[in-house]
Amino acid sequence: MDTSMNIVIVGHVDHGKSTIIGRLLADTNSLPEGKLAAVREQCQRNSKPFEYAFLLDALKDEQAQGITIDSARCFFKTDTRSYLIMDAPGHIEFLKNMVTGAARAEAALLVIDGSEGVKENSRRHGYLLSMLGVRQLVVLVNKMDLIKYSQNAFRRIVKEYQQFLKKVDLSVKYFIPVSGFCGDNVVHASEKTPWYNGPSVLDALDSFVTELPKNDQPLRLPVQDVYKFTLNEDKRRIIAGSIDAGELEKGDTLVFYPSGKHSKIQSIEGYNQADKNRVRAGYATGVTLSEQIYVTRGEIGAKQGELPPLVGTKLKVNLFWLGRRPLEFERRYLFRLGTAKVGMRLESIDRVVDASSLENLTRQRVEKHQVAEVTIQLERAVACDLHEDMPETGRFVIVDDYEITGGGIVKAVLPYSSTISWEEGKVTYHDRCRQLGQQGLVIWLTGLSGAGKSTIAIEVEKELLRQNRYVYRLDGDNLRHGLNSDLGFSETDRNENIRRIGEVAALFSDAGAIVLVACISPYQSMRQFAREQAKEFLEVYVKADVATCAGRDPKGLYQKAIKGEILNFTGITAPYEEPDRPDIVIDTSELTVEQGVQLLLEKIRKTEWRSLQ
Ligand code: ADX
Repeated sequence: MDTSMNIVIVGHVDHGKSTIIGRLLADTNSLPEGKLAAVREQCQRNSKPFEYAFLLDALKDEQAQGITIDSARCFFKTDTRSYLIMDAPGHIEFLKNMVTGAARAEAALLVIDGSEGVKENSRRHGYLLSMLGVRQLVVLVNKMDLIKYSQNAFRRIVKEYQQFLKKVDLSVKYFIPVSGFCGDNVVHASEKTPWYNGPSVLDALDSFVTELPKNDQPLRLPVQDVYKFTLNEDKRRIIAGSIDAGELEKGDTLVFYPSGKHSKIQSIEGYNQADKNRVRAGYATGVTLSEQIYVTRGEIGAKQGELPPLVGTKLKVNLFWLGRRPLEFERRYLFRLGTAKVGMRLESIDRVVDASSLENLTRQRVEKHQVAEVTIQLERAVACDLHEDMPETGRFVIVDDYEITGGGIVKAVLPYSSTISWEEGKVTYHDRCRQLGQQGLVIWLTGLSGAGKSTIAIEVEKELLRQNRYVYRLDGDNLRHGLNSDLGFSETDRNENIRRIGEVAALFSDAGAIVLVACISPYQSMRQFAREQAKEFLEVYVKADVATCAGRDPKGLYQKAIKGEILNFTGITAPYEEPDRPDIVIDTSELTVEQGVQLLLEKIRKTEWRSLQ
């Protein structure tokens, strides 16, 4: 017996959850020696009738053999496997743990009070389970002793509840008539329900299927980091991450999403790994690829030939909100799934339920401890899975002001391409080029603040215009007054800044223009993004080290950054990733402006010449 399973038991407090669990422990002989007798005796002494629910109280905090009970969890074993039964008192803690990934329930027991029938509460409990993506469910119709073990009453409840469950897309494995109080059908089949020949609660537990072993699932390798070897012209990169599901082997072709780039695994560079040819789910690993493709943190690696993850910017999700401030429209949040971090906004609220009262609420916003079905819009495409297919990569958290303020599961990825079409015009890129007598080109100047990007771009623009070229300059500083005035200097904002500039530059190049972009663009991955959008692209590294730039300090910003008056200042308190294969380097600590300008003009001339060949 080496398997274990997490089960959640839900139901109203008075519906008899504790009694059923107490019974389960007693009748499977899971209790410590003499415990049952001791509790019975104590009840007698206090002249109160014995109840199995008291057992749970008596066992609390007791670390007896095979059982651990605290207010919300109970651990026990059967011949088949061990179980952790989680109670969901008030739901809040449980929901929080489920959505943030701290707890997992593979199956659920839902208790309905047979003497009360299906009430609003039971419906909401069902909704909660469906919202959390729990797929295996057994419904216990309890207190059968109070309704004289009536088959008709049982049938009525089953029928009514089944109709409801269909609406929330949840199917039930078994409905079991039980009495926790008398022990009917909890562990042993009851003589009082001869009309019932289904399993007991214990049998039903043992019939739950443990999830597919993680290794047998399709590979999911969220990219944590990309390390470069820099010594001796070594061009290798190690793509590192922890395998969430599946396994990978040397020689496998990996496909990364959302980018769709692929390459073969050349070597596995695991940490303390014995097997250098294969790694399984649950392990951190690093791989090198046969081709040097640009892959960035946040992408998910999958294996060619296996089920790929989904990619999208609009997701339908179920979420549980924990934030002090409500989840609101208009506000920007950070969405984290796997290693991906991307800005998001709430697009629509389809349903909101209070997690403790389980009442339906209005749909203006989502407040603390409310559960909601919402649609969110991400600023960039992410790769993910539906929670029902792959729980690990189908779960996310939302961060606001550095705090986790919510979490949930992915229910659907709405493909943007299915709702937005592409309108093909009658004028092509080549028509435009013919008319202008030139081709589109993005000249991307990257480097530290004060390195001389703008200075060079301004001079080159003037010269190209003099040569009758259709040229336009996009300066990072200038664009931050308009197009990007809503952005700051955090990593996320800078990425968004470059995404927009990259898109705009690409549009200009598609119009046939020569575009000079001057912006720090400190992250390699985003410069690569810009390159991929453009018709033709030149990466120009305007090189000057921090000391040189700080010495020039034309805007006095280095002074301020050193004094701590400006945060996230590139080169001082924020990183700058040097281009590792720029098309041209202009070292402004060595060259004059004039020389730099000439060098770039020459490069442009050659590039144009080459593309005309
Ligand atoms: S980028 O990093 O997102 O590419 P961008 O080129 O648009 O930056 O803007 C950089 C300019 O903003 C600098 O030239 C400087 O004038 C100004 N600036 C203000 N705060 C910062 C900061 N924290 N880091 C870098 N530049 C800053």
